[in-house]
Amino acid sequence: MYKVLLLPGDGIGPEVVAQARKVLVSLGKEHALAVELEEAQVGGSAYARHRDPLPAQTLEIARAADAILLGAVGGPQFDHLERDLRPEKGLLRLRSELDLFANLRPAISYPSLASASSLKPEQVTGLDLLIVRELTGGIYFGQPRGMRVLEGRTRQGFNTLVYDEHEIARIAHVAFRIAQKRGSRLCSVDKANVLEVSELWRDVVNAVHRDYAKVALSHMYVDNAAMQLVREPGQFDVVLTDNMFGDILSDIAAMLTGSIGMLPSASLNERDRGMYEPVHGSAPDIAGKGIANPLAMILSVAMMLRYSLNEPLLADLVEQAVHQVVEAGYRTVDIARAGQQPVGTDEMGDEVIRAMLQLSSKN
Ligand code: IPM
Ligand code: MG
Repeated sequence: MYKVLLLPGDGIGPEVVAQARKVLVSLGKEHALAVELEEAQVGGSAYARHRDPLPAQTLEIARAADAILLGAVGGPQFDHLERDLRPEKGLLRLRSELDLFANLRPAISYPSLASASSLKPEQVTGLDLLIVRELTGGIYFGQPRGMRVLEGRTRQGFNTLVYDEHEIARIAHVAFRIAQKRGSRLCSVDKANVLEVSELWRDVVNAVHRDYAKVALSHMYVDNAAMQLVREPGQFDVVLTDNMFGDILSDIAAMLTGSIGMLPSASLNERDRGMYEPVHGSAPDIAGKGIANPLAMILSVAMMLRYSLNEPLLADLVEQAVHQVVEAGYRTVDIARAGQQPVGTDEMGDEVIRAMLQLSSKN
């Protein structure tokens, strides 16, 4: 029996997590997937109740869970809070406390969505790249950090970009291992022309490469990588990068596929225990309207089945069902073209479940 913790969070989080729950319940019924679902609070909703974006009881349940599904955190009503109490801090602490250092963000273009991309369809057709982002180090967590007042009363903000060799090596191993199973090409992204941290990053990645002779390794500066992603994204297979560069590049990669509402992610620790969440945020502007795209969340369920629950066939089933629904023309507003009648969050979830039933009755 696997214990799966649902953390709906804020904004559209609860709406999309409700669809993930439906998918898991259906897999339990139809395919005897043995999961026990729990639910807890994180982010702004946790702050509102417990004055803490990651209450102790949530962290405790999270530690005991085999996998976590997180919706999204954040909202403008929390932006005035002291930094440590903001919803984002709940997510960052969760990543850090559970040591979820390996963040996998695949960007796959669906044929029928090619026209929803901001690039020309021929540039994104067949796109299948994976960003491997370091998630528990770098400037997001480096000390010292803070705000201070200098003489003359000038305020100064400061953060520290720091990585040690061990942190770089372990994320590099993850990226090489995955590249080996995919197209065997790894591009490591850094800013080695300016930053010492990047110089070390390059050095360590080169050293780790010796264990993976079959993978072709290249290095790219982050400014060029951002440009190449929107110029010719097809050149990438696996992209390895640090926490902040990965944050930025993964939003760019998301848009190539047509909508950030389509992109799942996995955050894994050394033992492949993981947290799974859509790359999109809490989208406060559309929260509560029932129009959010649940597919990134549902695809995150597929990643969870594959990486943490050891159910690759069910992962395939969910991904194929999403594929079928998209190809059949079902569209939430974010991916609908002019003239296409959009469906709501709940209906999209139902269609995926219908497609799952149909696909498994064929086999
Ligand atoms: C992401 C998000 C988070 C990040 C925020 C919400 C803290 O943008 O998962 O990409 O910056 O990592
Ligand atoms: Mg981000």
